[in-house]
Formats: sequence, C-alpha cells, structure tokens
Amino acid sequence: HLPVEIDLSKLAPGQQMTAVWQGKPIFILRRTPEDLAKLQSPQLVDQLRDAGSDALQQPAYARNWHRSLVPEYGVYVGICTHLGCVPAYTAPAAAPDQTGRYACPCHGSQFDLAGRVFKGAPAPYNLPVPPHVMPTPTTLRLG
Ligand code: FES
Repeated sequence: HLPVEIDLSKLAPGQQMTAVWQGKPIFILRRTPEDLAKLQSPQLVDQLRDAGSDALQQPAYARNWHRSLVPEYGVYVGICTHLGCVPAYTAPAAAPDQTGRYACPCHGSQFDLAGRVFKGAPAPYNLPVPPHVMPTPTTLRLG
C-alpha cells in the first residue's frame, strides 16, 4: 500500500472530513480550542471507558491527552470497534451537551473527538490512530 496524502488547507476549525486509506474510512478532525479544552475536562474524562487508551496499541506520538500528532488535528480509523459500522459525526453545536462526538448507528456506541469510547457502549475500545505524519502544517500523510 502506498501512503495517501491529504490536503488539509480547506478544513476549517470545527470541521471534519473522511478520507480513505487501505480501504478504511479515516476521520480527520480539525478541533477548536473549545474542543481541545473539553477533551481535558474531568466531566468528559469521567464518562470515558479508557481515557488513556491503555487497552490499545497505538503510535507513540498519539499517546497523549489529544491522541494525535498535533493537538488541532485528530486522525482516527472510522470503524466502530464493536462490529465495524461507521460512526457518524455530530458537531458540538448539534450535540445535546455541546460536546462533539461520533455516534455508531448500529448499536449506539459513542466516541468523543479524540476517538475515545464512552462508558456503557458495546464498543470495547477507542478508535485506533492510523500511522501518519504531517510533512507540512496542512498536509497529512497516512501510512
Ligand atoms: Fe458500533 Fe455495534 S457496531 S455499536
């Protein structure tokens, strides 16, 4: 598989896009300062099954509170870790508590904007972080 390069220059703060890499949907989020503050809030962290992603193997550069290379950009494999449906993005403004998330249409698992699964979901793990680098501030290379 060849690496896939994605231009992020048109992705505005608060937007997300889906790319395809190795046949999988990859969610790419440009998080706002408010989103990033929320990812660290104890109220949110308390609702997560595995806030530190201890149960997952993932790249060393994503073993941090924002689960990514650069805090502003979140990059996650968009396949529910329960039975493989594709979760749908809900922007913060449209979410009940103004906390953006991904919701799986199949059995209701929910993931936050760092791909971390909420407690009570059937999905056992957070969304994985695919291997990636950013050769420029607005270019993402997957693989
Ligand atoms: Fe997502 Fe079951 S496949 S909750």
